[in-house]
Amino acid sequence: MTIDSSIGPDRARERFDAELQTAATAAALQDLRHRWVGRSGSWVAAFMELLASAPPDQKKAIGRGANELKKHVEAALAERETALAATRRPAGAVDITLPGRAPRLGARHPLSLIREEVSGIFSRLGYQVLEGTEIEDDYHNFEALNMPAEHPARDMQDTLYLADKRRADALGRQTSLLRTHTSGMQIRYMESHEPPVRIIAPGRVYRRDNFDATHTPMFTQVEGLVVDEGISLADLKGTLNAFAERFFEARVKTRFRPSFFPYTEPSAELDVECQGCSGAGCALCKHTGWIEVLGCGMVHPAVFEAVGYDSERYTGFAFGVGIERLALRLYGIDDIRMFYENDLRFLEQLAP
Ligand code: DAH
Repeated sequence: MTIDSSIGPDRARERFDAELQTAATAAALQDLRHRWVGRSGSWVAAFMELLASAPPDQKKAIGRGANELKKHVEAALAERETALAATRRPAGAVDITLPGRAPRLGARHPLSLIREEVSGIFSRLGYQVLEGTEIEDDYHNFEALNMPAEHPARDMQDTLYLADKRRADALGRQTSLLRTHTSGMQIRYMESHEPPVRIIAPGRVYRRDNFDATHTPMFTQVEGLVVDEGISLADLKGTLNAFAERFFEARVKTRFRPSFFPYTEPSAELDVECQGCSGAGCALCKHTGWIEVLGCGMVHPAVFEAVGYDSERYTGFAFGVGIERLALRLYGIDDIRMFYENDLRFLEQLAP
């Protein structure tokens, strides 16, 4: 369509309106803009050229006409573009006719389940459940548990020390470490509470270990402590047998094997008969017929002395359950790292 400025702005405007009726796309609108108000070669540009060479008495009318045409075109194009944009689907728009995607439901991690199961059994037996701090000092993690400096039992647990020495321990020494076991919670609780004591303290512990099929530098324990007048080894055995029965949901056979921990005397480890082979021996129990569940013992008098309890009057028992070890045996898994890799194919198999 050629530009014919002789027809005058009013007729030109009618023509524009007619063309606008047929422009249905953004590209068509862009083309209209170009041809009607573009810098050169457009209708408005042609009227401006006409204006320059017009006799003085016509300049005013041509100028006003060209200006009004320009305003009209721009306003009409803007309105059309807005209307067009409102009907356009957003980028990547959802096709609402597609069937929905079912959301994937998560589940508790197997280690959390076992930890809660253990805590639940003891809290139903009347134990208070404590949260502990993972950053500990030398005094609570070792010294007060009858492991003075240079004590060989410290080598049983390779410790991760922290560079941050802002926290002083009870003796004013500034040692900061990641707790190697939850046993420090025994001290922390007894320091601030008088007997009777009946607590458990679940939590993460850390050791300088390699990351391999049977070791991780971080794992989970549940600590337990009972102190009162007249607590005996029979209470320890009765309580832990009751725990094993509830945890393994059966009358499992248990045995207490003599062991050594500096903070208990006597010390023992509790084994339960292997569920996989009923004691006959299999890969799950490494052909022993038994599965180790926890370490335990009667609280050493030196521990009571450290917290100011009268060791003539009070006795008690303590225990520590290793959650990962229990989980490995329970599920028959041979690589502890699977618990930390968050592979959904693994986790989904263990979800309840
Ligand atoms: N603290 C021990 C460990 O890290 C576990 C343990 C053994 C805790 C005997 C106790 C106990 O309270 O009496 O393996």
